[in-house]
Amino acid sequence: MAPAIETKGLTKDYRSPVKEPGLWGGIRSLVNRRYKDIRAVNDVSLRIEEGELVGFLGANGAGKTTTLKMLSGLLTPTAGEALALGHVPWRREAAFQKKLSLVMGQRSQLWWELPAYETFRLNQAIYGIAEADFKMHLDELVDLLDLGEHLSVPVKKLSLGERMRAELAAALLHGPRLLLLDEPTIGLDVVMQKKVREFVKAYNQRHGATIMLTSHNMTDVVALCKRVIVIERGRILYDGALDRLVESYADHKILRVRFSTPVTASDLRTLGSVVHCEGESATLEVPRANVSASAAALLRSYPVADLNVEEVAIDDIVRRLFSHS
Ligand SMILES: Nc1ncnc2c1ncn2[C@@H]1O[C@H](COP(=O)(O)OP(=O)(O)OP(=O)(O)O)[C@@H](O)[C@H]1O
Ligand SMILES: [Mg+2]
Repeated sequence: MAPAIETKGLTKDYRSPVKEPGLWGGIRSLVNRRYKDIRAVNDVSLRIEEGELVGFLGANGAGKTTTLKMLSGLLTPTAGEALALGHVPWRREAAFQKKLSLVMGQRSQLWWELPAYETFRLNQAIYGIAEADFKMHLDELVDLLDLGEHLSVPVKKLSLGERMRAELAAALLHGPRLLLLDEPTIGLDVVMQKKVREFVKAYNQRHGATIMLTSHNMTDVVALCKRVIVIERGRILYDGALDRLVESYADHKILRVRFSTPVTASDLRTLGSVVHCEGESATLEVPRANVSASAAALLRSYPVADLNVEEVAIDDIVRRLFSHS
């Protein structure tokens, strides 16, 4: 079967004006503008099969959004090739647009002043969605995303979480085969993050749609992606199983504890490496294999008021990966 996405040597340079310092510099650069190129994506070759759900990770400025914009046809690359669902994305063929959706957590496609339902109707017209399909998709999305009463309220009156779910519905009404999600849970509270995650998983499973998702939130990635692609300064650093990445580069978890009376760092040393300990709160790094033993020992021997076990932040893993490479 043909892959959902295949790129070879995909590269993107951004040209931006060089600002010279000072007033005269400012005037000079207006008259005689000089530019410098920033290589945002550098020789990226990847292949994603139909139905895969892949995490696309990297620190700020690594080139994730730029890559997704090229794959969705919003940007034309400086060099290299790509095929998405058999189309060259930046030719923006109507047949391609109908099979694709790009959702950016920080940007809205909904009309602010109108109820989301009106934008849905507009999208129906734009994508030429038959009435029966529209109703079927809408019913499913309203159900999965728990949208009900929110659709008839002007978007500006929705909470961020409600808006994000309406955003996803708007992006999926035409039943895209390829979904590019750029930080779909950014700014959402944990309950909403979970809802969005569950939805993404269900959409992938029900429709066999291919999904590529960026997130700085490790919980998203762990819950959703078996495979991850890590990008750093525009280049692919890692492409493979998440398990292997996490085992190799995040061999520990974080225990965050709050005590009901103060505890000192030296008390805790036997349980893990103490990252922070001040008064009634402490943070420990504990090897994966010891997490339950350490948590049990804490609860047994100390006045624990609250205890959380967390994965290492993705940015930390990526940083480690980078320092190893
Ligand atoms: N329109 C633009 N003009 C010039 N430079 C840009 C433009 N957009 C992005 N860049 C630069 O390209 C690089 C990659 O940016 P990109 O937005 O793809 O990163 P990202 O991985 O999505 O980061 P983040 O996690 O912060 O969203 C950065 O150095 C950024 O400053
Ligand atoms: Mg980005």
